[in-house]
Amino acid sequence: MSPEERMKEFMESSQARVNQALENWLPETSQTPQGLHEAMRYSVFNGGKRMRPILTYATGKALGLDLESLDGAACAVELIHAYSLVHDDLPAMDDDNLRRGKPTCHMAFNEATAILVGDGLQTLAFQVLACDQTLIVSDGTRAKMIGLLAKASGSHGMVGGQAIDLDSIGIALNLPSLENMHAHKTGALIRASVGLASSVIDTSGDDKIKHLDCYASCIGLSFQIQDDILDEESDTETLGKTQGKDRNNDKPTYPGLLGLAGAKRKALDLHAEALDNLSGFGENADILRSISLYIIQRRN
Ligand code: IPE
Ligand code: IPE
Ligand code: MG
Ligand code: MG
Ligand code: MG
Repeated sequence: MSPEERMKEFMESSQARVNQALENWLPETSQTPQGLHEAMRYSVFNGGKRMRPILTYATGKALGLDLESLDGAACAVELIHAYSLVHDDLPAMDDDNLRRGKPTCHMAFNEATAILVGDGLQTLAFQVLACDQTLIVSDGTRAKMIGLLAKASGSHGMVGGQAIDLDSIGIALNLPSLENMHAHKTGALIRASVGLASSVIDTSGDDKIKHLDCYASCIGLSFQIQDDILDEESDTETLGKTQGKDRNNDKPTYPGLLGLAGAKRKALDLHAEALDNLSGFGENADILRSISLYIIQRRN
């Protein structure tokens, strides 16, 4: 099998794993309040790539962990991501009406429902991490994992990055400020996707774990740079979201600051740095290596 075929197989099996976990945890639409549960399921089962769960499983593979023990962590990180997208699309934020090729949550339902969907998905994420029985770790490690996801999601992580993003409309950020915004709004949750798997083996201070975290920081940034590039040069149908919104909303982006060629060069540099951080790992980390390349080559 070629590395591409192995990567495709791993992505598909990870998507199936996390979709089953999400299916088990999301309330049925027959449960009240039915409208809210329908909107929560609509926002999760609408064709996301599941990159963050795939990263959690791929990190587990690199560390020789049993993938089943990571279903709860993978599920939790995707729930936070899905919530972040529902809120990101609201009229008060990016005001988008298309997500994953379908009407955004507030268009398909209404704004109040979309706010509650985000609230419900976010709290469910922490319920999953706290209660998931397939995660076999000490209570202390479980608490550490809950803390890690909370920090990555909150005002010092993704939510903080979203605040910087909104404050930066129409402002020409310099490179360090733009990097800081991206590292928070997108990088923090990608780091957490790797960090949750690393946390299962309790070896803080271990060089391998530090390198995995540096790898995650590199691909977290390259992920958002590629998102900015695609917003500029892709098309709405391929993206499943409206192309050109960053420019329309006057958002600072990497192509805006460095040009498309400069942004692509930066993404390539980050890919090289990500690979450097995996040099101490053997072939168990090949999926992580392929993910870094996939992130900067993806078309949606
Ligand atoms: C989109 O994330 C939002 C960003 C953080 C850039 P993804 O590109 O992972 O979106 P889905 O989950 O596949 O739809
Ligand atoms: C979103 O960044 C980051 C989140 C925390 C959701 P974008 O606003 O660029 O994401 P898209 O392009 O709408 O998916
Ligand atoms: Mg946004
Ligand atoms: Mg957006
Ligand atoms: Mg974007």
